[in-house]
Amino acid sequence: MADLLKLGVLISGNGSNLQSIIDHIERGSLKAVIKIVISNNPDAYGITRAIKHGISVVALKQEDFKTKQDFDLELIRILKSNDIELVILAGFMRILTSAFLKAFPQKIMNIHPALLPSFPGIHGQKQALEYGVKFSGCTVHFVDEGVDTGPIIIQGVVPVNDDDTEEILTARILKEEHRIYPRAIQLFAEGKIEIKGHKVKIKAAEKIPFHSLHNPP
Ligand code: GRF
Repeated sequence: MADLLKLGVLISGNGSNLQSIIDHIERGSLKAVIKIVISNNPDAYGITRAIKHGISVVALKQEDFKTKQDFDLELIRILKSNDIELVILAGFMRILTSAFLKAFPQKIMNIHPALLPSFPGIHGQKQALEYGVKFSGCTVHFVDEGVDTGPIIIQGVVPVNDDDTEEILTARILKEEHRIYPRAIQLFAEGKIEIKGHKVKIKAAEKIPFHSLHNPP
């Protein structure tokens, strides 16, 4: 257990990315352990997923805290008391305060359902459809003070078809999310991620060939 990367996963909803991380850990393709799942929504289905796999869960409601900062201080306390080494935002619908960012510098990852820097914020899939791009996808990035502006770790690309609805495109992107998020976390676990300014370098000796980033093994 000692060499497993300790993860804290923050969710707000369905938790399908959480599920994919759990599945990769159970399969042995991700050398990590989820020490705690925290939801800011007590009704999130992701909570049920975590419990099914024996993972500790905490649900916090903003209403129970005076300020956003107080909420984040409680998040920090829980994560620190679990010795969390990497914070995973998996559909966590909340902007973190700078206190939180300072507590986990370069140790917070997020996944966004578009090819950043295009279509940040909410409804990335809808924005892509409305713009008329021919390809979209998803981006795993470190979190900084901006909204979806942090250093990019991995991106996955999917085609956008003329007859796509938002639901169809969302499902196509989600499938890709489930593949690349565990991959990015595993790169972190292996110490292969180097951040230089705003750029992420995957350490040279272990560079992932393009085809394996874009085709499932
Ligand atoms: C995903 O599309 C993710 O990119 C975005 O929120 C959604 C979460 O989905 N940040 P799920 O809760 O993991 O199913």
